[in-house]
Amino acid sequence: MKSIPSYHVRPMTGDDLDAVVAIEAESYASPWHCEHFQNEITARYSWPLVAVEDTCVIGYVCLMSLFEEAQILNIAVVPDRRGRGVARMLLKEAFCRALEEGAEVMALEVRASNSSAIALYEQFGFKQVGMRTRYYDGTEDAILMEKRVKENP
Ligand SMILES: CC(C)(COP(=O)(O)OP(=O)(O)OC[C@H]1O[C@@H](n2cnc3c(N)ncnc32)[C@H](O)[C@@H]1OP(=O)(O)O)[C@@H](O)C(=O)NCCC(=O)NCCS
Repeated sequence: MKSIPSYHVRPMTGDDLDAVVAIEAESYASPWHCEHFQNEITARYSWPLVAVEDTCVIGYVCLMSLFEEAQILNIAVVPDRRGRGVARMLLKEAFCRALEEGAEVMALEVRASNSSAIALYEQFGFKQVGMRTRYYDGTEDAILMEKRVKENP
């Protein structure tokens, strides 16, 4: 029997920034700075969302949706809450937002070595559509993935 998630997803606010920046620092070698997330909160075409358990932020996704194309700019889950479907729920909410905004295609870039993220995106039906050679730090390739928004699982 599947357990009911103990967390929910809502829009990111300025009060979430300390927690979000801490998760970001734990999740990436070259993390976004606080200003980056601040810009996502205020930008016209951005929809940053957080997953919250009790009162704690445990993950986030940054979505940009402009006309027919939406993009996942960033997604991370606090290490000790991974493997519980949090990213899946964040992505589902991002798809709902993108659909509401009229997006037809969702795109993203992912490091070629990031097998857990690639597995997550493939589970959602994303397909590889291209590659940027040595895109990250001049050493690692970026895989470009896309999916039609209306094919949301
Ligand atoms: C990638 C990341 C966001 C996944 O978050 P998560 O909450 O643990 O993911 P979920 O529990 O929702 O998993 C959903 C699916 O993703 C895939 N997945 C997630 N973690 C995985 C792992 N360690 N190994 C293989 N597949 C994995 C699986 O397909 C999983 O489905 P399943 O549970 O049916 O097997 C998380 O590992 C993270 O924050 N990583 C660091 C930041 C990062 O790399 N972000 C992506 C940048 S492109």
